[in-house]
Amino acid sequence: MRFLVIGASGAQGGAVARRLVAAGHEVRGFSRTANVPEGVRPFPGDLGDAGRVKEAFDGVTHASVVLPMEFDPATVSAYVRHVIGGARAGGVRRLVFNTGNRLPGRETGVAVFDTRRTAAATLLGSGVPAVVLRPPLYADNLLAPWVSGPLASSGVLRYPVPARVAVPWLTHDDLGAATAAALTRDGLDGLTLDVGGPQALTGPELAAAFGPRVRYEEQDVDAFEAGLARMAGAETAAGVAGTYRWIRDTDGFFATAHDAGERLGIRLTPLRDWIAARGLS
Ligand SMILES: NC(=O)c1ccc[n+]([C@@H]2O[C@H](COP(=O)([O-])OP(=O)(O)OC[C@H]3O[C@@H](n4cnc5c(N)ncnc54)[C@H](OP(=O)(O)O)[C@@H]3O)[C@@H](O)[C@H]2O)c1
Repeated sequence: MRFLVIGASGAQGGAVARRLVAAGHEVRGFSRTANVPEGVRPFPGDLGDAGRVKEAFDGVTHASVVLPMEFDPATVSAYVRHVIGGARAGGVRRLVFNTGNRLPGRETGVAVFDTRRTAAATLLGSGVPAVVLRPPLYADNLLAPWVSGPLASSGVLRYPVPARVAVPWLTHDDLGAATAAALTRDGLDGLTLDVGGPQALTGPELAAAFGPRVRYEEQDVDAFEAGLARMAGAETAAGVAGTYRWIRDTDGFFATAHDAGERLGIRLTPLRDWIAARGLS
């Protein structure tokens, strides 16, 4: 088996690539920069370059795909077209598409969701043997300075999700394990799996996992967007903030059955264990 990880220099693709390398596989990492995890063979390229994407798939049997922070429908469609073209030409036996987020079952007007929903449907209908993984929010988001700073300085866990919403936080390491399993297990072609941590935690439960005196505070999404815009630019911030407004305003967004671990044959990490392992509780 020869693996291609698209987005291998990123947080999500990097976790997938590390997991595959640790399992002894040969891994080619596709991204614009060559800053891929140790043991991964870099294959620099841009998803907008159909020829380069096709070259990346040459000789590849299994591919993991996460699309970058790009939410323009025409650009995302072109990326997906190039991936499908490459996967077909390379004769890929299994492609796993990580949508980056849970997805509502209909058009929402939220570009992050709608572009990924279209991408998932296009891939599943393309004839390339594919599995779609839909993660919830990543536990690793909680390590960002805008979360960990107030947590360390004033014991406040501030996040742009209402306190009542129970989130099955998924760790990047578990995403890596889930993707590796989805790439290699038999009988999964055509499936869409909502993968998430074993327990869904409300805001106060999440705060309690960090310590008895930690208090949860819902961050205003506009304030979150303004902060993210300073780091990632206004367009990206607006896209991401759109997802948090949807989560705020939509009951039951994360309420799907969490049997993906069983389907994939992996043990997903309880968030409390992940927090303790990092000495954060
Ligand atoms: N559910 C959550 O909690 C959560 C959290 C964060 C992000 N997300 C979602 O996950 C998706 C990706 O987010 P992210 O950027 O943070 O992921 P990421 O996996 O950290 O990084 C994206 C990867 O794509 C590469 N890339 C960017 N533009 C590219 C291009 N034109 N051609 C080839 N490679 C390219 C980047 O590397 P180079 O820069 O080297 O090209 C990087 O390797 C987005 O849809 C986002 O909304 C979800």
